[in-house]
Amino acid sequence: MTTPDARLRLDKDAFFDSLGYRPHPGQQAVHRSDASRRIVACGVRWGKTKCAAMEGLAAAMEPKDKSIGWVVAPTYDLADRVYREIVFIAAEHLRHRIEVMKENERRLVLRNLSGGLSEIRAKSADNPVSLLGEGLDWVVVDEAARLKPAIWQGHLSQRLLDKNGWALLISTPAGKGWLYELFLRGQGERDPDHESWNAPSAQNPHLDAALIEVERDRLPERVFRQEYMGEFIEGSGAVFRGIRECAIGELEEPKEDESYVAGVDLAKVADYTVLTIATRSPRRIVYFDRFNKIDWTSQIARIQGALDRYGNPPIFVDSTGAGEPVFEALHKAGCNALAYAFTSRSKGALIDNLVLRLERREIELLRGDVWPEAIEELEAFEYTVGETGNVRMNAPSGLHDDCVISIALAAWHPISEGGFDVSVVREPHRRPRRDLFARATDSEAELPPWLRD
Ligand SMILES: Nc1ncnc2c1ncn2[C@@H]1O[C@H](COP(=O)(O)OP(=O)(O)OP(=O)(O)O)[C@@H](O)[C@H]1O
Ligand SMILES: [Mg+2]
Repeated sequence: MTTPDARLRLDKDAFFDSLGYRPHPGQQAVHRSDASRRIVACGVRWGKTKCAAMEGLAAAMEPKDKSIGWVVAPTYDLADRVYREIVFIAAEHLRHRIEVMKENERRLVLRNLSGGLSEIRAKSADNPVSLLGEGLDWVVVDEAARLKPAIWQGHLSQRLLDKNGWALLISTPAGKGWLYELFLRGQGERDPDHESWNAPSAQNPHLDAALIEVERDRLPERVFRQEYMGEFIEGSGAVFRGIRECAIGELEEPKEDESYVAGVDLAKVADYTVLTIATRSPRRIVYFDRFNKIDWTSQIARIQGALDRYGNPPIFVDSTGAGEPVFEALHKAGCNALAYAFTSRSKGALIDNLVLRLERREIELLRGDVWPEAIEELEAFEYTVGETGNVRMNAPSGLHDDCVISIALAAWHPISEGGFDVSVVREPHRRPRRDLFARATDSEAELPPWLRD
């Protein structure tokens, strides 16, 4: 074995050059920084993973007797993104330096510039036991905002103390949780150990600017601002915009040549059953009913009566929990009931779809004086961003959301043959009859794109 030579130092620029990596100015700033805590909170596709992988590789090349670094993320899949990039570059450019490469252990050992051994491992934070143990020279944390604060404080930052190691935390901003606090320490009159950067995705010159514009149109504004503009979105705020502009419609009697869609949110304990009927294309609300405190049999008769008048259109029903028997009863009564099973994901998709329709003026609501509760509920409906960056959308406590859900169900796309995402919408009894949807004018292209994955 060669004796490590402490006088050697890695020339990072030359090293990156030899790998064919040319950091863009944003990445360059991160590589040049000597802060022991670096926080990169930038938009998606900014080049965070690439930058972190390169920084990890450079650290592993530093002349040292022995060094060890970890790549950590909330799950193994996410940790693998940085780790695979490292392995890929090592296999391509540094094959002669690879001493150990254990796929199943996610462990790579490289012979560094002075002949010492440098180990790189990928770890998942969902298995905190695996985070116990050795002192680290460095740690890269991907999707850091989605890590529980206890993992950073209790497991990772402690691992760095013995060897005075560095951390590079990369993430899209998500909420104003623990990462935001670390981020602030790296801004302005900063704590000298911390340096942080925040930039939109567009700073990556390798990204197609036109594609970003496509995403701007496709995503609800709040999601775009967080994901592509790299903004730390406040803890809560209004979900729907453009409500008043869309609230211009009148009630309308059924028309022979019109096709309709409907949504119903069924009363739970203390709230209302709300039925919304809209024309299919363009989506215009023409009828609503809102009632509580009547027994299920009367409710079903009342819903069925209204639907019959409008040609028995497909109706989306929240089929979760107490909704299930009512859904079945509607089905048995001959309604074209379609179950919309609520999970946090499916609810998010349902709300996002309504957000988009409102932002793009693709739905007409009833005027405020015709259906005041709907406007009140839509305006009050809010999102809150949790510590881990998860977005929850709800009525503020004490207020109802049954009009919102009913409208959102009526705003959902009709199911065309084949465009049926069973993980989000399911139809428990039988597949919808073909003729039922033969009139659908909206195409599958109308499906919110993020539902297709
Ligand atoms: N300096 C660079 N030179 C060439 N290509 C780059 C550079 N930096 C990033 N890229 C490319 O840009 C794309 C996005 O990079 P990367 O995956 O590192 O971004 P990210 O910020 O981690 O994205 P995500 O938010 O999706 O995790 C990749 O295709 C990557 O190869
Ligand atoms: Mg990444």
